[in-house]
Amino acid sequence: MNKILKINKKINSFKKTINVEGDKSLSIRWVLISSLSKKKSIAFNLLKSEDVMSAINCIKLLGSKVKISKNKCEIIGNGLYLNIKKRLVLNAGNSGTLGRLILGLLINSKKKVKLVGDKSLSKRDFSRVVIPLRKFGAKFNRRKYLPLDMEGIHNPNSIKYLEKKGSAQVKTAIILAALKSKGLTTIKAKKSRNHTELMLKSLKIPILVNKNNKQFDQIKISGVRKVSSLNYKIPGDISSCAFFIVLTLLSKNSQLLIKDINVNPTRIGIIKILKMMGGSIKLINKRTYKGEKISDIYVKSSKNLKGINCPIKYNSSAIDEFLVIFLVAAKSKGSSYFKELSELNQKESPRLKWASKILNLMGVKNEMTKSSIKIFGNPNLDLKKKIIIKNFSKDHRIFMMSVIAALTFGGRWTLNDSECFKTSFPKFLEILKKIKR
Ligand code: S3P
Repeated sequence: MNKILKINKKINSFKKTINVEGDKSLSIRWVLISSLSKKKSIAFNLLKSEDVMSAINCIKLLGSKVKISKNKCEIIGNGLYLNIKKRLVLNAGNSGTLGRLILGLLINSKKKVKLVGDKSLSKRDFSRVVIPLRKFGAKFNRRKYLPLDMEGIHNPNSIKYLEKKGSAQVKTAIILAALKSKGLTTIKAKKSRNHTELMLKSLKIPILVNKNNKQFDQIKISGVRKVSSLNYKIPGDISSCAFFIVLTLLSKNSQLLIKDINVNPTRIGIIKILKMMGGSIKLINKRTYKGEKISDIYVKSSKNLKGINCPIKYNSSAIDEFLVIFLVAAKSKGSSYFKELSELNQKESPRLKWASKILNLMGVKNEMTKSSIKIFGNPNLDLKKKIIIKNFSKDHRIFMMSVIAALTFGGRWTLNDSECFKTSFPKFLEILKKIKR
């Protein structure tokens, strides 16, 4: 059903402390990796969003036992060897991460498995994982789009692979398949989020990562016989936090403290970029947990924001945050330029196109190409007009970006599909209410 949210008023000044929900990348990885252990794994603060629930449903169908209560989730997996009796259909819902990663796990399934997804996921490119998984020995009925039939192989080959897109999903699908194969797999991967590598290291699985090259990591991993249990306290998601960081920067006389956030260096491009633009953001109380950096984030309203030529070295570590970064560019003095971002159009919706469209609706001048956008900022922008956001493929981040735009730039906004944020951040509106109170 299409539910509508209307916002007609900017947010008042606030000074608050909040928590956001658990990190989505870590939550999905915890679910999938725990399914490889026959022992009980326990997670606290697991994100209970639709994407993570889809992951849980998939591993249940593959034979894992899952118990979820208010504070924790327990998984007893069925080990590394799949014993699928009947033809299975796995549904990845809206999640590219789940869809791509689970294909890695299916590498040793001798039974055919069908992978399906929702309308948006069925438009996304799966050839990026089909190509390396074929090298391991898997067979697929088609190359690019869901639904896909995959037939794994009893003893997968090990492979050598060059991953050029900087996609953590592709890298992880290969690592998961390598865990089930014979021999040593070597991946040269353009740098991207490294949660899988850190989780496997915390499980004492021998995975060697050479980071000496500026652009690429070299990863070496061999097949293993068993995986031990993985107990994990999942920190807050910087990608969820991003909406409130920008809300605070663009609001008058406001301050926000966000507790216990994963600030893995491969994820904090948004902080680096917003600081370059003049944003007042501090990481405090830094610590390390299972190789992941965690910290609290303190943000203050920032008046003198300035446009930048955004260095491409931050692209991968800010990939899910560009939509809100573009809002900061819209409020900055001077123009901002963001380039080599064609991957943004490969997400839940073509996000670069949508960003340009929403900026146009807001009256913010911008020039977009297939892979870049130049935004002409206006520090005095104050909207009065009516803006309707619809038919955006229910992309959760487009919706949340629009909410933040409405609350900081003003105007009378009508947002369709107003439940879609539940794919990644079910408490988004609840936390927003707490900030407004
Ligand atoms: C993710 C990797 C990124 C990111 C996505 C989550 C992950 O996608 O956009 O939201 O958890 O591995 P790509 O691998 O396509 O860059």
